[in-house]
Amino acid sequence: MSIQLGDIAPDFQQDSSEGLINFHQWLGDSWGVLFSHPADFTPVCTTELGFTAKLKDEFAARNVKAIALSVDPVASHHEWIKDINETQHTIVNFPILADDDRKVSELYNLIHPNADDTLTVRSLFIIDPNKKVRLTITYPASTGRNFHEILRVIDSLQLTDNYKVATPANWVDGEDVVIVPSIQDQAELQERFPKGYRAVKPYLRLTPQPNR
Ligand code: BEZ
Repeated sequence: MSIQLGDIAPDFQQDSSEGLINFHQWLGDSWGVLFSHPADFTPVCTTELGFTAKLKDEFAARNVKAIALSVDPVASHHEWIKDINETQHTIVNFPILADDDRKVSELYNLIHPNADDTLTVRSLFIIDPNKKVRLTITYPASTGRNFHEILRVIDSLQLTDNYKVATPANWVDGEDVVIVPSIQDQAELQERFPKGYRAVKPYLRLTPQPNR
């Protein structure tokens, strides 16, 4: 069965390029980004993992740990990491799970037989500090992911967990947000949104980002 938003991310123990990972313990109090890629030594995956390494400071600023996965063994990951570091001008600074027994792939439904019956698809999960799955996306093997979008979703989740707002289409950190429709009481609106708001429609009310 596929993993749905709000589910507890399945826990597992698996080997990785940085040793044995007990997933929930490894996550600790951090947010997590768990992402699968089809295979080591493939071009798109090389760029994806290199770019993720370059986002180290962005992930740290948001209290996020990244972890990759493919069905290749640890020895393959170690050899491939050398290529990623060399070609992407970075240093891979997160573990790559070696799921050659497919334990995690089965738990997270990462092999889609009608796409490819052996390789993992490009799936990604954002997991919050309570271990709840907050985002799932799956991309085709031929399309590298936009990791700026992953950071954008994390910004939105971390904001909307703390304020009664949601983020509109294409929002990026710092832009106006929308007030959730359930807030109707004028005193509460004034208290929660002291910078004021603009009602385009009764259900569409824009306000400056409250934590800025
Ligand atoms: C790649 O990462 O480049 C890739 C992997 C599997 C199929 C197609 C492309």
